Amino acid sequence: MHKTHDKLKLGVLVSGSGSNLQAILDACATGTLDAQVSVVIANKPDAYGLERARAAGIPAYGLTPQNYADAVAFDTAVMYELLRHQVDYVVMAGYMRKVTSHILDGFPNRVLNIHPSMLPAFPGAHGLRDALAAGVTTTGVTVHFANEVFDEGPIIMQEAVAIRPDDTLESLAERVHAVEHVLYPKVLQLIAQGRVSVEDSTVIISPPLSSRAPTRDLTRQ
Ligand code: GRF
Repeated sequence: MHKTHDKLKLGVLVSGSGSNLQAILDACATGTLDAQVSVVIANKPDAYGLERARAAGIPAYGLTPQNYADAVAFDTAVMYELLRHQVDYVVMAGYMRKVTSHILDGFPNRVLNIHPSMLPAFPGAHGLRDALAAGVTTTGVTVHFANEVFDEGPIIMQEAVAIRPDDTLESLAERVHAVEHVLYPKVLQLIAQGRVSVEDSTVIISPPLSSRAPTRDLTRQ
């Protein structure tokens, strides 16, 4: 467990725009998320998410996979930065690359991902496009723990988004992103509060301390 007197330290992995990273940074800044982003790492040196991190004064590294012998060598470099910044949880936010067991084993049940569909429906790199093409009337957002299989792993929380008959990829993406930007910080806050655990691949979310029945004080009977 992370030390309760310290803020939860997040290492965020991005590949692109980083709007989810921004939502997490904003939630940390306003105090709705009791955590800090300690490091941001991208697998593309020109990922805009790196600029968002630097603007917030957070160490940001763009690593180029082609400069490494293989996926494990790349993830060794990612792990180096995560460990150096004493990260508690790894947060994939639009990270379009599979993490290897090197990172998953280093952070057991501590690597999160966000996906733009109600998993297990529409996994893969084109969750929104595939939902539109399938003609379904509802899609959504999933936050889950990552495991060895892309877009699988224990689901923490999902939120549905209705698809309108006149939706384009752009209009749907806009509403899905708006949901993502609330859902990811919300899940991270539950983790920061120590309320999320995994038992037999099932996620258990405990009620807040304030709503739990008081323990009887046996010394006062
Ligand atoms: C999000 O839709 C997320 O669900 C998916 O990639 C997108 C990343 O967007 N995994 P951003 O980079 O956070 O703006």
